[in-house]
Amino acid sequence: MTSARRSLSLLEELREERVQEERRELEVQTVEFDSPVQIVLYPDPRLRAPNARVKLPAKGLEELARQMFKVMYMDDGVGLAAPQVGVNIQMMVFNPEGMAARGDKSQEMVLVNPEIIKRSKKTIVNEEGCLSFPRILGDVERPAAVKIKAQGLKGEKIELKLDGWVSRIFQHEFDHLQGVLFFERMAAPVLQTIRPQLIELEETFVQKNPGVAVQRIT
Ligand code: CO
Repeated sequence: MTSARRSLSLLEELREERVQEERRELEVQTVEFDSPVQIVLYPDPRLRAPNARVKLPAKGLEELARQMFKVMYMDDGVGLAAPQVGVNIQMMVFNPEGMAARGDKSQEMVLVNPEIIKRSKKTIVNEEGCLSFPRILGDVERPAAVKIKAQGLKGEKIELKLDGWVSRIFQHEFDHLQGVLFFERMAAPVLQTIRPQLIELEETFVQKNPGVAVQRIT
């Protein structure tokens, strides 16, 4: 083997190692975060970072869910995804009744490693807000219903057919877990109406976090 070939195969080995390492990194069994958690605002790069799958049961996960519900209710929200508190894992919490049903276990849902199995062809347009975009509202078109699978906090299998409001909440939070933000799903004229507010959030973030690279709308 020539030296050139040897160095090529070394490079290949290194690349393979890196890919394996990335895969390992993309599954976690210990969830680390600073308490109490705080909602991160657009355009924080953690809203765009890849979210690791969680191997269950995972240390720290139940406490994270508890803290996420707390900040969600404090901001009068109905759903929250882990990257929104700066924790890049595949987990969301929601309660379609919001504050009114705080602590109601029949309404509160924690979904880990969620997947969409099926989307309805029928779509619905409805107004959405997002806790990472204070006071910004806009119409978003989404499939009316979804069939999903996920795991619960202890690793139990969950399969659900969701429609109406809860389907919308799930899809919004699911998008967060893919690094997708609600304004990217808005029709151009709707996006136009909130563009100044998005730019304002960007300006504020850049001023508070000099040197942090962010993805901007323009
Ligand atoms: Co959101």
